[in-house]
Amino acid sequence: MKSFASDNYSGIHPEIFDAIQRANTNHQISYGDDEFTEETNRLFERIFGSVTVLYTFNGTGANVTCLKCCTLPFQAVICSEYAHILADECGAPTQSIGCSLLPLKTTDGKLTPEQIKPLLGRIGNVHNTQPKVISISQSTELGTVYTIAELKKLCDFAHSNEMYVHLDGARISNAVAALCVSLKEATVDCGIDIMSFGGTKNGLMIGEAVLIFNEKLKVNAPYFHKQTAQLFSKNRFIAAQFSALLSNNLWFRMASHANEMAKLLESMIIGLPGVKMTQSVDANAIFVIIPENIIQALRSQYPFYEWDAATHEQRWMCSFDTTKEEVTEFVRVLRRLTT
Ligand SMILES: Cc1ncc(COP(=O)(O)O)c(C=O)c1O
Repeated sequence: MKSFASDNYSGIHPEIFDAIQRANTNHQISYGDDEFTEETNRLFERIFGSVTVLYTFNGTGANVTCLKCCTLPFQAVICSEYAHILADECGAPTQSIGCSLLPLKTTDGKLTPEQIKPLLGRIGNVHNTQPKVISISQSTELGTVYTIAELKKLCDFAHSNEMYVHLDGARISNAVAALCVSLKEATVDCGIDIMSFGGTKNGLMIGEAVLIFNEKLKVNAPYFHKQTAQLFSKNRFIAAQFSALLSNNLWFRMASHANEMAKLLESMIIGLPGVKMTQSVDANAIFVIIPENIIQALRSQYPFYEWDAATHEQRWMCSFDTTKEEVTEFVRVLRRLTT
């Protein structure tokens, strides 16, 4: 199957596969006390500076672990109405932490201090859940990317109101590749307190990493990690994948390729009859309205998700393994259907 459905429809990058095999020798101490985890933690430290790293099975688990580290049951997490933690995690954060989510409307998936300000009135009122975390996704669920200035402004605003910033980084590699800065400059240097670092959508078989920069949040994190059922006894196999991802710029090579394929796709469909982009193509996602009468025919050849059935808005995702030929062929089919 060739598809533009999701970056997790893709397989495993060969360098990641090799890393899993290399880790598959002898016995190693379990629960992250192995030499592969140690080596990968050092790699993360070299990239980000002082950081506590916790490995998780999936993005939902990483988000839940992050939010558990920074909220109490009476506190609230401010997020966008499209946030994965709100829309696509079956209530996992609220169910397992007890915190509430305060969603805000957004046209581009991003949050701004101006939107959040009215919620500060809740602080100190015993009848309201207490805003404690601003959660953002980078890149966002709408394929847009916060600029460094936007990130700094949000983090400054959060900290000046005694809140933390959580970054859902399921696609942080795509965002950072698009921003042309370092991973550190795009995260901890902006003031991010805690984040997930995506693996599965960028060529891993399984695994995400929770990165904790704020010293206060590091203290209880290992216990929350275990309580959220994300501590893997054979952690070396997740860590080894991250070691490969962070070596030889693999994370960047894969993410920037996926982004380039999205840009190529965008450039080839502009001007087609009835085809209208709805979001800026900042990373590896394209949001586009196409004529209703061609959706089924196109999707039967190339699976993808409908984002909004009412407006016929579709989401097309490119992956590390999307090829120019696939993009060209997809556009050829689209062109034939629309003209
Ligand atoms: C923004 C975002 N965060 C997190 C996730 C991780 O989800 P999962 O628990 O399926 O790995 C996804 C996956 O679609 C996502 O798009």
